[in-house]
Amino acid sequence: MGELTTSAIQIHDLVKVFQGRQEVRAVDSIDLDVQDGEIFGLLGPNGAGKTTTIGACTTRIRPTKGQITINGVDVLQDPAHARQFIGVVPQQNTLDRSCNAFENVYYHCRFFGMASGEATQRATQLLTEFKLNERAQAMPYALSGGMAQRLQIARAIAHRPRVLFLDEPTAGLDPQSRLAVWELVRGLRRQGITVLMTTHYMEEADQLCDRVAIIDHGKILVNGTPAELKQRVGGQTMMEIHVANVSPELSERLGNVAGISSVESMPNGFRLWTTGRDGLLPKVLEAMHGCDLRDVSVKEPTLETVFIRLTGRELRD
Ligand SMILES: Nc1ncnc2c1ncn2[C@@H]1O[C@H](COP(=O)(O)OP(=O)(O)OP(=O)(O)O)[C@@H](O)[C@H]1O
Ligand SMILES: [Mg+2]
Repeated sequence: MGELTTSAIQIHDLVKVFQGRQEVRAVDSIDLDVQDGEIFGLLGPNGAGKTTTIGACTTRIRPTKGQITINGVDVLQDPAHARQFIGVVPQQNTLDRSCNAFENVYYHCRFFGMASGEATQRATQLLTEFKLNERAQAMPYALSGGMAQRLQIARAIAHRPRVLFLDEPTAGLDPQSRLAVWELVRGLRRQGITVLMTTHYMEEADQLCDRVAIIDHGKILVNGTPAELKQRVGGQTMMEIHVANVSPELSERLGNVAGISSVESMPNGFRLWTTGRDGLLPKVLEAMHGCDLRDVSVKEPTLETVFIRLTGRELRD
């Protein structure tokens, strides 16, 4: 067999316009190709269009335009078929509050056509695997945020989907629960499940995802491995300087410092991009002589600095 990479998810020219008092172009011509077996991350700020994109892939939202193919099946032409091999964990908790943890998984299995015995077996196995077996009888309200999220993931994969959609899987979780979810998602990849997830935590995208697309205002700005994206900013370090008074003259002086490749003005200071920080600070301070310096921060290349470079805004963690 030759080398055969297959696409688990292919999105072409996806557009979603919400009509209302004001027209919102939530997704504005997105193209995406997620390979079989990878963890792919959509990273972007609030309102970027992440949930809408997932909604279109999972048949919840009818696109205005575009094509989506999952495992070779056209999602828009054949949504019922597509739903058989996709799993979804929505941004909001959608556990059935009138059912306990076990029943949440069990009834999902029944819904997907398993007989009672098989559903019981599958639910028991998943609760054990996800370390929820001791809480099998607990009602959703009695579960911690981390447990509830693990239960939602267990339920989402109970019918053995090939592709799993995770919308902000760790939003609001404490650091320990977040790591537990990461481990779990890596485990799913080992089982061959393709994962398309959204996040606005750049560290999560960096640590967990094989490839990442940065999305803003419904458009994909860049897409690649975390290492490739950081390379996009030329491996540049970002230095932020806060001063009492911003002047064009100061900006020019900073721009003339050897090693600084560009200077951007901010309301309360400057953002400097530099290829190396060794010995730079003294030179910057010298250029700032006589200015009322308030604060200096230095950031090595991260997905956050990539986002800032592309949009001029912070993504916020
Ligand atoms: N049903 C809807 N009707 C009208 N506008 C909508 C609807 N759903 C989403 N939008 C708008 O579309 C844009 C994209 O929303 P979306 O929920 O996809 O963003 P997101 O990236 O998931 O954001 P968040 O990080 O807050 O979850 C936003 O401006 C949002 O207000
Ligand atoms: Mg969202």
